[in-house]
Amino acid sequence: MRTPGALADAERWTAHNYHPLPVVITDAEGAWVTDVDGHRYLDFLAGYSALNFGHRHPSLIAAAHAQLDRLTLTSRAFVHDQFATFCRGLAELCGKDLVLPMNTGAEAVETGIKVARKWGYQVKGVPDGQAEIVVAGGNFHGRTTTIISFSTDEDARADFGPYTPGFKIVPYGDLAAITDAVGPNTVAVLLEPIQGEAGVLVPPAGYFAGVRELCTTENVLLIADEIQSGLGRTGKTFAIEHEGVVPDMFLLGKALGGGIVPVSAVAADRAVLGVLKPGEHGSTFGGNPLACAVGSKVVRLLSTGEFQQRSAQLGTRLHEGLTALIGHGVVAVRGRGLWAGVDIDPALMTGRQAVERLAEQGILAKDTHGSTIRLAPPLVVTEAEVDQALAGLAAILPGK
Ligand SMILES: Cc1ncc(COP(=O)(O)O)c(C=O)c1O
Repeated sequence: MRTPGALADAERWTAHNYHPLPVVITDAEGAWVTDVDGHRYLDFLAGYSALNFGHRHPSLIAAAHAQLDRLTLTSRAFVHDQFATFCRGLAELCGKDLVLPMNTGAEAVETGIKVARKWGYQVKGVPDGQAEIVVAGGNFHGRTTTIISFSTDEDARADFGPYTPGFKIVPYGDLAAITDAVGPNTVAVLLEPIQGEAGVLVPPAGYFAGVRELCTTENVLLIADEIQSGLGRTGKTFAIEHEGVVPDMFLLGKALGGGIVPVSAVAADRAVLGVLKPGEHGSTFGGNPLACAVGSKVVRLLSTGEFQQRSAQLGTRLHEGLTALIGHGVVAVRGRGLWAGVDIDPALMTGRQAVERLAEQGILAKDTHGSTIRLAPPLVVTEAEVDQALAGLAAILPGK
């Protein structure tokens, strides 16, 4: 079926909880996708970082194929032979004692919240039902009822109440505000090292070092939601490493599944994750054999540092190219590594119009609030492809 028919069918048969670009993709490889009409596009969104290793990375596909031919699901009622290898590899990559595998990013966040609360009651001694978690305005941690309870985005939140209590919202990047918000019943501070959905916002230098010190002093867990920022996206394995900070808990997802299966995880030391006992938390598909086989290969790919280095080097090229467009239709550029938030002059076009025009140039990207667009190509992208995307962006802006 060609694009118009496929779009009409999608419109007819699905809930309208997304507003996709009118592109119907049928196959993909590396940084490129092809639509049903045979048009090729450079994928500069990479599934919001779920495709850090590109589409159909050969070693990830091989791992998936091999596992499909042997064993796909056991549930956690039994152990399977891929489980410990994956969990050990990921724990070592994170420098933590233990891993708890789940499926989606939101489930990893929910797991982190539950573990932090339980740790608060059992280890810190917070009175029953009083645990508080400090979060940042502009956050994006997923779509469950608890998570949207502390969202500041009305589209995500409105009409989904009643809301889960126990969260204090402070401005992102403001250490004094977190310091004021932390009290005797605070069990955790939950933050994105870089806020993706908010427009790739990088906090001021020293923010995370300050938050780390505060959390240590106040006996509060620092939870880093690295679901979008982690696993090589910013030029390091974890974005929080740029600040020289180690959180108490990593929340991971997206790229952990290699763009093939949903895989998420929480990584923390025994003193934290050890509070969970059998029957208290879980998921039928969490840590399934297919997920673990692919996830182990993802960990292996990251262990060489090659992808982190590519992201750092090509990221410099991307950011230099974007910075050169400031004053020529671009108002501001933020980000790290192969991840950028680009504010287009709102007098010229909205973010939505920008990504529609970029698609006409053969570049797929995603707008966020107002006139901001996000660029996050797969880490397998080449220098020439980065230059092509920059040229595509320049082409939709007024000439220099
Ligand atoms: C920082 C962050 N946390 C959590 C999530 C939720 O992940 P998922 O959509 O897999 O539930 C996302 C998704 O965009 C995210 O960017």
